[in-house]
Amino acid sequence: QLIQKIAKMINQAQEIYFVGCGTTGVVSMCARYLFAKIAKKKVNFEYGSEFSHLEEILEPNSLVIGISQSGETIDTLEAIEMAKAKNCQTACITNVKNSTISRASDATILINAGIEKAVASTKATTSQLGILILLAFACIDKTMQAKQILHDASGKINDMLNPRYENILLKLAAKIKDSSDIYIIGKGINFPVAKEAAIKLQEISYIHAEAFAGGELKHGPLALIQKDTPVIVIASKDKNYHDILSNAIEIKSRGGLIIGISPESNEAFDIWLKVPKHDIDAAIINLIPIQLLSYFLGILKNNNPDKPRNLAKSVTVK
Ligand code: G6P
Repeated sequence: QLIQKIAKMINQAQEIYFVGCGTTGVVSMCARYLFAKIAKKKVNFEYGSEFSHLEEILEPNSLVIGISQSGETIDTLEAIEMAKAKNCQTACITNVKNSTISRASDATILINAGIEKAVASTKATTSQLGILILLAFACIDKTMQAKQILHDASGKINDMLNPRYENILLKLAAKIKDSSDIYIIGKGINFPVAKEAAIKLQEISYIHAEAFAGGELKHGPLALIQKDTPVIVIASKDKNYHDILSNAIEIKSRGGLIIGISPESNEAFDIWLKVPKHDIDAAIINLIPIQLLSYFLGILKNNNPDKPRNLAKSVTVK
C-alpha cells in the first residue's frame, strides 16, 4: 500500500529527486535508469551533500525521496528538510522505523532488511534496489510483474552463494590483492553499479578503486591503464553489450587485465565471473560477485570487513 501511495506521489509530481549518500547515493542514481526503463519516467538524482544547489529550483510540486539505510545521515536529512521548507512533498526509503529521516518525511517505505551491522552496506543495498523496481512498476500499475522479477532475482542470488562460486572469487582476490589500483567500468545502470563496486572495494580492500562510464574511458582514464592493471568490466547482455566489450578490448590492448562480469563468456575477458541471466534486476545481480570479491580481498589483506578503518556506519554530523 505504501508502495502504491508513493507511486501515486511520483506520478503526480512535476519533478522527482532521489537523494542519498555513499552507497545509498549510488542506489539513488540507479533510480534514474530504472524509472526511465520501467516507467518511461524521468527522475533526477543528487548526492545529499550536493543537494543544496537545488534550493533555487525546487518547486512545491516537486517530490524529494531520500534513501537512507540508517535514516540518520545528516546530508540526506538536510535535503529532506530543505525540500519541506520549500513546500515540496517528501518521502523516504529506509531500514529503520521512526528514524529521523522517516519522521521528517511525509511518507516512508521500510525496506525490512533486518539490522545491518557491517559498515559496508550489502543487504540493505539489494533491498533498496528491490524497492525501486517495485516503485517503478507500481507507477505503471504492474506491481505483480515487479514481484515476479524480485522473486526470480532472489533465486539467482541463492544460486550464486555457493562454495564453488566463492572459491572462484577467492582465487581472483588472491591474484589481484597486491594491485595498487582497480578500475571498474559499466554503461547504463551498470555505471552506478560500477560506482558502488568502487565504494565496496575501497572500504574493504583499501585498494584505490575507481569507476568510469565505459564511454568516458577515451576521455582520460585510458591513460591510467598499464600492464596487468585489473579492470572489472560489467557486461550485461543488453543494448550496451557491444559498446562495453569494445571498451574492454581497448583496455586489453593496453595491457589491462580484464575481469568480465557477464552471463556469457567472451574472448575479451581474461577472467570471467559468470552471473545468472538478468535484465531489470541487473544491478542486484551484478553487485553480488563484487561484494564477495571485496570481502575476500579484505580477508586476505587482514582487514576487518565489517569495520573498515576511518569509516562510520552512519554519518550523523557534518
Ligand atoms: C556511511 C556508510 C555507508 C552508507 C552511507 C549512507 O558512509 O559507511 O555504507 O552507504 O553512510 O548511509 P545511509 O544510512 O544514509 O544509507
